[in-house]
Amino acid sequence: MIQESQPQASTSLWQLRRVLSSLRAYPLLSLGALSSALLLVAAYAVTPQLFRWAIDQGITQGNLSIVLYCSAGLVMAAVARGVFNFGQSFCAEALSQSVVYDLRNQIFSKIQTLSFSYHDQAQTSQLLTRVTSDIEQIRTFLSTNLIQVISGVVTLLTIAFILLVMNWQLALISLTVVPLAGWLMARFFRRNNQLFRQVQEQLSDLNAVLQENLLGVRVVKAFVRESVETERYTRLNDDLVAANMKTIRAIRNTFPYIFLVSNLVIVAVIGYGGITVIEDRFSVGELVAFNAYLLLILQPILLIGFAAPAIAQAAASAERVYEVVDATIEIRDRPQAVPFTTCGGRITFENVSFRYPGAMSPALSNISFETKPNELIAILGMTGSGKSTITNLIPRFYDVTSGAVRIDGRDVRDFTLESLRSHIGTVFQETTLFSGTLFSNIAYARPDATLEQVIEVAEAAQIHDFIASLPEGYDTIVGERGVGLSGGQKQRIAIARTLLTDYSILILDDSTSAVDAQTAAQIQSALDDLMRRRTCTSFVVAQRISTVRTADRILLVDQGRLVAQGTHEQLMAQSSLYGIILESQMTAAPALQER
Ligand SMILES: Nc1ncnc2c1ncn2[C@@H]1O[C@H](COP(=O)(O)OP(=O)(O)OP(=O)(O)O)[C@@H](O)[C@H]1O
Ligand SMILES: [Mg+2]
Repeated sequence: MIQESQPQASTSLWQLRRVLSSLRAYPLLSLGALSSALLLVAAYAVTPQLFRWAIDQGITQGNLSIVLYCSAGLVMAAVARGVFNFGQSFCAEALSQSVVYDLRNQIFSKIQTLSFSYHDQAQTSQLLTRVTSDIEQIRTFLSTNLIQVISGVVTLLTIAFILLVMNWQLALISLTVVPLAGWLMARFFRRNNQLFRQVQEQLSDLNAVLQENLLGVRVVKAFVRESVETERYTRLNDDLVAANMKTIRAIRNTFPYIFLVSNLVIVAVIGYGGITVIEDRFSVGELVAFNAYLLLILQPILLIGFAAPAIAQAAASAERVYEVVDATIEIRDRPQAVPFTTCGGRITFENVSFRYPGAMSPALSNISFETKPNELIAILGMTGSGKSTITNLIPRFYDVTSGAVRIDGRDVRDFTLESLRSHIGTVFQETTLFSGTLFSNIAYARPDATLEQVIEVAEAAQIHDFIASLPEGYDTIVGERGVGLSGGQKQRIAIARTLLTDYSILILDDSTSAVDAQTAAQIQSALDDLMRRRTCTSFVVAQRISTVRTADRILLVDQGRLVAQGTHEQLMAQSSLYGIILESQMTAAPALQER
């Protein structure tokens, strides 16, 4: 289950190591980034030495050719810095893009394989944040922060070594800036770490409100809640700005001290260094070079300091991403799973009970029935009685809590999921269309279908005439920017989409609920014919008795129990609940029932 995780330093750092180990898949780019970074440090380190040489051997000795050589050297060092800088950022960028590309695909395919029960409990906005902004954090870490830290540490060590070799007394004075600045930075982040995390969390809260409002814009308008929603958004926006300002103040309060310390060290170097130069123990060129190194040494400390919160953030993001990647897939193939090939039509529910994960009470209790070949089974019951739940157990969208669902005597859990599901055509209660043309929506599971095949199923679903009346016909774009469709039209497209698959078992879950009774009856009669020809068994879930009248058998479900079964006539004679439902529908919509 997904929760807003409070990152625990140790586990999230471990997850960051996992990100780092994925760099191994790109040895050339990793090597390129690392060697460019090292060469860049070298190009920086050599520059002050050229200055020293130019001053000591050239200017003070009046040797013009050495001055010219040094100038040429300085130009080359500058060019080299440019080249290695480019190489470093190019390789690091390419590396980060490649790693994140894999990670994005990994998390996406994982989301596709996770069971219904996972998605029941996961928040969509949470999953979206993980695939987008958390992955982006990891990418920034790989493309910038990682290389910053590596080259920062190398620069520090290299310059410290050079300074010690040049003049160890002066080096010891100067290097006091390192622990001092380090201590100031550490104190800064210890105090403000919580603040940085808070900014990220407030940003994701703000995005959640935005997403909710985009998805629910119609509800907001219908209930005239625009101003309340705007207020809610503005309040979170204000909080975010306040938190951001706090971090800016914190930065303002710390960094001047770091610069002060480093300037004090420079004063000490000029003072003590000046004395040693006057006493002829140190040359002017050496002092200039020394000072240049001091300016270079402060930069990596600041870079490492700035990289620290980004690294903590990336570690937290890595933890959130791997939480999805590592989530257990509850419904998967058993080791000796066999493919589902032919269907004889005998579907058995054997004492089936089912409880949704996290639910207090069972949704189904002790359901038992068996279908005969080519039977058309209707499942009828009040809302919330468990009709959809029964149908969800056949393609293993969920696994039974106890009992068994069998097809031709074999437990559905013994079949491979892919073969099982591709032989079961399901039309869900809630219709989802994808952005694209009407053709591609109907041909979703069979993109190679011909127009004739698509028209045939559209006719059976009673949607062909409507589509043909559109100016663009089957090429009409649906979805966000496409044509608007009514609920009933969408349902019929969903039926056509399922009819085009290789089903041998067909499940229609309340698929004509948004269609008027007359069209529903037309769809039903077209389907009746198809079902009897093509399927081994079909299930039709409905709340409307008129839709299920022609079924071979009606299963009447009430509060998760199978309370009666039989034909329309048998149930009318035997079941009081059936009588009540029938009566309520006759009186509620007599005109419709008669049509
Ligand atoms: N994903 C879920 N997680 C937890 N409980 C669920 C879930 N889906 C359904 N339920 C519960 O299980 C029970 C049966 O639900 P089901 O969807 O099977 O009813 P239904 O008969 O199809 O109703 P309707 O006619 O309204 O579609 C209900 O009490 C419902 O609250
Ligand atoms: Mg339902």
